[in-house]
Amino acid sequence: MRSIITQNLSRVYKSPVEKTGLARSAKGLFRKEFKYINAVTDMSFCAEHGDKIGILGLNGAGKSTLIKMLCGIIAPTSGSVVVGGYTPFQKKNDFLRLVSLVAGNKSQLNPDLSAWDNFRFLKSIYRVPERQFSETARKLTLLLECANLIDKQIRRLSFGERIKMEIVAALIHRPKFLFLDEPTIGLDVRSQESIRKILSDYCAEGDAVLFVTSHNLSDIVDLCNRILVIDGGTLRYDGGLAAFCAHYNTTSEINIEVENCTPRIREIVAGTGIVDCDFTGNMIRIQVEKTFITTVFRELIQKLSNDINKIQIIEPRTEDLLKELLIKGKVK
Ligand SMILES: Nc1ncnc2c1ncn2[C@@H]1O[C@H](COP(=O)(O)OP(=O)(O)O)[C@@H](O)[C@H]1O
Ligand SMILES: [Mg+2]
Repeated sequence: MRSIITQNLSRVYKSPVEKTGLARSAKGLFRKEFKYINAVTDMSFCAEHGDKIGILGLNGAGKSTLIKMLCGIIAPTSGSVVVGGYTPFQKKNDFLRLVSLVAGNKSQLNPDLSAWDNFRFLKSIYRVPERQFSETARKLTLLLECANLIDKQIRRLSFGERIKMEIVAALIHRPKFLFLDEPTIGLDVRSQESIRKILSDYCAEGDAVLFVTSHNLSDIVDLCNRILVIDGGTLRYDGGLAAFCAHYNTTSEINIEVENCTPRIREIVAGTGIVDCDFTGNMIRIQVEKTFITTVFRELIQKLSNDINKIQIIEPRTEDLLKELLIKGKVK
């Protein structure tokens, strides 16, 4: 059974146009003007249990809007979305029991209560059995190294400490659909690692569907097996992360260290089937089309055998590849 189905899902925001100058001072005299922002346009995709989906896109691409529609915070303007058999925006109790949202920039916890009281409150709303509750809360707070803070009022926690509590709170009722909007924003490297570990263990234990947006591309690479790439509210790519990289990563790099980078060496390098190259000191970095990598590598070894100290093929890290593709907007 498909767990999530969206069809032509769209969201348009209506927002007042800010007046400037004279019009601003006399704004009561003028009729209010509005502009319409197409934040998400005609998105159709499905997700199955076990899918771990990273949503990628630059600022303003529509990632948060999409997540908000999937978990029922806002309604679509047109099109449809079904999650676990429910229409999210109807916010039926049985639906709310299935989902959790962690948004780095918006707390789901009551700031006046301690983390522990928040957890107990969620336990009673979601009717979580006592044993499951104490196991989850204790295990996760220990793993996130925040067990000593559970009696502290949420408003007195640091930003990173609060996010950790948000993650624990989100998992207390073992949701089948977990939505994370920038979950590791502002966290130190160790906290990021432990949050990723907890989330990937959680997904491996059950068959939850996970959606993550993050500027920290390591979150996506570590947690996700599938990505949705969004640009200007439109879905540009929906598929496996590995397939995405294979499709868009068309070049590899050969790094050569030579004793002395003479004009003869430069000429030989330029004469092979390269895309681009960079000479810095005694290092040569050569970009080659993936399909020609073996041929070029052999040719360089043959022609430069007496000059080479070291030669290696460098595969780009998936994070770097994703970053480059996003920055250069290559996904079309
Ligand atoms: N409540 C809102 N009212 C008006 N415009 C909004 C609102 N929320 C988001 N937008 C606009 O919708 C677009 C998508 O925003 P968002 O979904 O937050 O993008 P992302 O999460 O990818 O940065 C942006 O142009 C943003 O300015
Ligand atoms: Mg956002």
